[in-house]
Amino acid sequence: MKILVIGASGNVGRYVVDKLLEKGEKVVAAGTNLENLANLFKDRVDLVYLDLIAQDSFDQALEGVDRVFLMRPPHLGKPGNLYPFIDAMKAHGIQLVSFLSLMGVETNTIPPHHKIEKYIEATGIPYAHIRPGFFMQNLSGIHSTEIREKNQIFVPAGKSKTSFIDAADIGLSVATVLHQPDKFKNTAHTITGAEALDYYQVAEILSRVTGKGITYAKPGYLKYRRYYINKRGLDKKYVNVTVALYFMTRMGTAKHVSNEFFELTGKTPRSFEEFSRANLTCFI
Ligand SMILES: NC(=O)c1ccc[n+]([C@@H]2O[C@H](COP(=O)([O-])OP(=O)(O)OC[C@H]3O[C@@H](n4cnc5c(N)ncnc54)[C@H](OP(=O)(O)O)[C@@H]3O)[C@@H](O)[C@H]2O)c1
Repeated sequence: MKILVIGASGNVGRYVVDKLLEKGEKVVAAGTNLENLANLFKDRVDLVYLDLIAQDSFDQALEGVDRVFLMRPPHLGKPGNLYPFIDAMKAHGIQLVSFLSLMGVETNTIPPHHKIEKYIEATGIPYAHIRPGFFMQNLSGIHSTEIREKNQIFVPAGKSKTSFIDAADIGLSVATVLHQPDKFKNTAHTITGAEALDYYQVAEILSRVTGKGITYAKPGYLKYRRYYINKRGLDKKYVNVTVALYFMTRMGTAKHVSNEFFELTGKTPRSFEEFSRANLTCFI
C-alpha cells in the first residue's frame, strides 16, 4: 500500500516525500499543480490531482493508499474546509493520518488546527499529530526579501522568543510516525528546535553568516500589516492570520522547547545557524 502526501510541493510536504522514500515507502504526491509536482519529483513517486475542497477528486487520490500526510493549505482558513476530506479518509479505511498541526493547539483553541485535530480524533481514524514550532523557512522564504534588500528582519514579534525548526526535521518526524503506524497511532508530538531565539539573536546569526549588518526592525502590528498588504501586495486574509500568530508569539506561545524530535528520530534538530549557512543564497 502507498502513503498519500498532501501539499507535497510545500515547505514540509517535499521533505515528507524524500524521507518516506528513504525509508523504502511507496509514495503518492498530491496537489492541484501536477506540473509543479512532476518537476519536483520526476519519476520518483506517483502523482495524483487532489483539491481538498473538491470532493470529486478524493476517491482517486485515496485509491490504494493506507496512510496519509494531511496539511492545511494556508489559504484554507476554516477548519470545516478539511472535514469532507477527513470523512473520505474514514470511508477509505485509512490506517494512520499524520496531520501537520501547530505547537500549543492542545490548549490554544484559536488556530484552525485545534478543531481539525478534534475532528480527526472524533472520526476514529488512527492519528499521529505533528505540532511544530515556527519554521526556519519563514525567514528564508516570506521574510527573506527584506533581509536581502534592506538588511532588515521585518516581523512584529516584539522581544519574544521562538523555537524555530527546520521543515526538513518536521518532514523526518512525519515520515517516522507514518512508517510505524502501529507504534504511533493516537499520539501527538510537539516538534521544535533545540533553543528559542529572539529576533535580535536571529539578526546576529544572519549577520555573522552573511557578513552583512542585518538588524531586527521590530515593527508594530499596524506598520507590518500595512507594509505586507500595500507594499508586498500579499493577500489581506493571509497577512491578518500572520498578525494573529505574531500576537500569540508575543504572548509566549512560540518559545517552548521540546525534546520530542530527538525522542522520535534519535537526531538533534538543525540549529538556525546551520540552516542559515545551508541556505545562504536566500539571504544575500
Ligand atoms: N510557517 C510556520 O511557521 C508554521 C508553523 C506551524 C504550522 N504551520 C502550518 O503548516 C501549514 C503550511 O504548510 P507548508 O508551509 O508546508 O505549506 P506551503 O509551503 O504553504 O504549501 C501549500 C501546499 O498546499 C497545496 N495546496 C494548495 N491548495 C490546495 C488545495 N486546494 N488542495 C490540495 N492541496 C493544496 C500546494 O500544492 P499545489 O499548488 O499543488 O496545490 C502546496 O503544496 C499550515 O497549516 C500552517 O498553519 C506553519
